[in-house]
Parts: sequence; structure tokens; C-alpha cells
Amino acid sequence: MPGVADEFHEPLETAARLAGRWLDGIRDRRIAPSVGIDEVKDALGRELADGGMDAALVVEELSAAVEPGLIVMQSPRFFGWVIGGTAPAPLAADWLVTAWDQNAALREVTPGVNAAEELAAEWTCDLLGLPEGTVAGFTTGATTANLVALAAARHAVLERVGWDDAADGIQGAPRIRVLAGDEHHPSVDVALRWLGLGRPIDVPTDRQGAILPDALAAALAGGSGPAIVCLQAGNIHSGASDPFEACIGIAHAAGAWAHVDGAFGLWAAASGRLRHLVAGVEEADSWATDAHKTLNVPYDAGIVAVADPAPLVAAMTMHAAYLPAAETGIDAADRVLELSRRARGVPTYAALRALGRSGVADLVDGLADSATALAEGLGRIDGVEVLNEVVFTQVCVGFEGHDVATIARALDVDGVALAHPSRWRGRDILRFSVSNRATDAAAADATLDAVRRALAG
Ligand SMILES: Cc1ncc(COP(=O)(O)O)c(C=O)c1O
Repeated sequence: MPGVADEFHEPLETAARLAGRWLDGIRDRRIAPSVGIDEVKDALGRELADGGMDAALVVEELSAAVEPGLIVMQSPRFFGWVIGGTAPAPLAADWLVTAWDQNAALREVTPGVNAAEELAAEWTCDLLGLPEGTVAGFTTGATTANLVALAAARHAVLERVGWDDAADGIQGAPRIRVLAGDEHHPSVDVALRWLGLGRPIDVPTDRQGAILPDALAAALAGGSGPAIVCLQAGNIHSGASDPFEACIGIAHAAGAWAHVDGAFGLWAAASGRLRHLVAGVEEADSWATDAHKTLNVPYDAGIVAVADPAPLVAAMTMHAAYLPAAETGIDAADRVLELSRRARGVPTYAALRALGRSGVADLVDGLADSATALAEGLGRIDGVEVLNEVVFTQVCVGFEGHDVATIARALDVDGVALAHPSRWRGRDILRFSVSNRATDAAAADATLDAVRRALAG
């Protein structure tokens, strides 16, 4: 009978070897997968066999079947969605989290991982300049962070008018008006849908997609009763942030809760050079962000932060006779949705520890610098027009005499760089999101060459 360590040794070594091989190849690999989902399923084997298989062999075969179907999201020339990258310390910490296999719901039951998570949460709030006493928790992503924050918001604004949503639900509750810029991220919509709050009232935005404060004031003045204002740090197309000082002031003057969806853009606050982009954001009541985007922590690493922990805990708390609450502090189960949960904040601890305060600022500045360099290079290519003011990490371009979808497809086939088509302010555009620490000058040059090839057809 092998010891426990012996039993795990070979599969883990196999995984480490295969992961190392994958990571080694990132820089030079074609970005698009070379096979589709059906071919991967065929390679994996579609039928569940009666008999089992050796663990190391499972890992080896899994890797062989799946790798051709992987899109190289960690490539320094991957500019799709807002994807991030993976740094060594958080990746390795993520493996440890799995090996430790702690159910991190209760801080006094699993003090090891909860200590790391709580420090990571406190350090994040500090780096982002959030107010003293803010409580943060780790979610799967910014979508669930928006959900958790808006659940706290719902509770708080209803409580102010004497309604207890925890006891009585929201059927029959006073109507809550939710307002958001007309370029808010769809994750806000889904969070509101889950919370039974319906579609938000769209507030007009400027040419970069940032809310017009006067329009927000007018929209709030057009109604009464409990209200939530959803603001944004980092527009998915332009990278622009809402003018927080003005907007949060207007929201609070109207008695509304101010929430900020800052999935990637909130990290501007961690840079002395870029903090002005989100000036005043600390005045909000809640924030949603991701570590798996700008901070380059592997998925899944979302963060929710709420200035006043009371409505957060009221909205999230889950305890029972067999699940006693912590004697001090706030359990993870009272900060986020899940009861059983992996200690998904530990890789963020490792990322912050590895980078330090100045390393985080350098990372954020580096992404913005690479976006600026890429935009400048793209702007110099004949027939390419940069359409946004490049203030952070997002670059949107239009093409003269070329169809965007055709250029995107040509880039995909070329395999060197990837950007996604989108539609912004009435125009088809190609969107480059710089969110990987590995994107350097060489990656930008190779991307510009790839765009030239795509345009040459
Ligand atoms: C502004 C904004 N909010 C929310 C999200 C959703 O984040 P996640 O995919 O981590 O759920 C994104 C994703 O790109 C985003 O850019």
C-alpha cells in the first residue's frame, strides 16, 4: 500500500511537467485552438468506461486531448475580452490551495487560508484607497462581486425605508430605482436580474462612455424612493471611468447607494500615476473588481468590497446550529455567496506578496504604457483609426475600407495576435485590451506586423 504522498507524487509531477511545457510554449504558440470542441471530446473519449485508470495516465491523456483545444489566453499578444495573465506566485499558490483542500467558509475553522485571504482583502482595499473599515471578500469574478455588492445595496436602501428584504423578500417592497451609465457592463444587468431589480435606467454618457453627471442628477431628480447608482471604473471599450467625485456626490445627495463596477479599471487606484483616473472612487458604498484581470492572478479571483459591513453581512450571512458564526471577525460565508468554497483569495495574497506595493503600481502602469504604445503604433498604420482616448488599457480601432470582422478573422488565421470585434458608439470596431504583464514592446511590434498582414489581405 503506497503512502499518501506516493499516491499523489506521480500525478502531481506529471501535471507540473505538463504545465511547465505549456507555459514554456506560450510566447510562440499560435493563439487560436487548432481543434474544436467535438474533436476534443472525441480525443477525451466520449463514453465513461467501466474500469478506472491510473491517475498519472489520466493527467497525461487529459493534457494531450485538451491542449490542441486551448486558446492561448496567456499569450503576450492576446488582446481579447479583458483576460489578464498568470504570474508565477499566484499560480503556484493556487496549486497549494487545491492540495490543502480547505473549505474556507469559516475563519476559525480554517484559520490558515482565512488569514491569507483576509490579509489579501485588507491589502487590496488599502492599495485601492478604500475607506478604513471596508470589508472585502473573494468571489469567482466581478459578475458575482457585482451581485454580492448589489445584494448589500438592496438590503441597505430598503432598510432605510423600513423594509426588511431578508425577512420579507422583495415582493411588495418599495420599488428600488437602479441607475447606470448607458455603457455599463452586462454583468450589472445579470446581477440586477438575479436580485429581482430588473433593468436599470440608462443614464447618458460622454464620447468615452463615462456618465454625464448632469444627466445622472436629472435622472435621480425624476423620481423618488430607494435608489442605487451603478458606476463604472474602466469602460470595456475606452477604459474611461465615470467622474466619481461628481457622481457619488449626486448619488449620496439623493440618498442613493453608490456602487462601482471596476472589474479591471479600479486598479488604476493602485498607481500614483493613474489614480487621478478614478479620483473620488473611495467615496462609493461598494466596489466590485477582479484580481484575475489587471492583477494577473489565475481564474477565479473576483473581489467584492463594501464600506459598511452590516448590509453585506445581512445579505450574505448563513449559519446554523452546526455552522456557528465566528466569535470575532467576519466569516467568508458572511462576505460572499458560497458556503463551501475553495480559498480563492490565497493566490491574490501570493500575487500581492510577490509584487509588493510598488510592484502592483508598476504592473498597472506597464499595462497602460503598453496600451499607449500599441495605440500609437496602430494609429500610424494607413487606414487604421484609434477611436478612443487611450487613458488606461483599452484600445479601439476602426478601419477605412475594411470590414472589421474580416480583419479579426484574418488575425485569427494568422495566429500571432488576437483582438475581438465589437460595436461601440454606432461603429464596428476592433478592440485591444492590454491586461497581461507579458505584453512588452516586442509583443506590440509583432501585433502591429500581424495587423499590417491582415490589412494587406
Ligand atoms: C467592467 C466589467 N465588469 C464586469 C466584468 C465581468 O467580470 P468577470 O468576467 O470577472 O465576471 C467585466 C469583464 O470583463 C468588466 O470588464
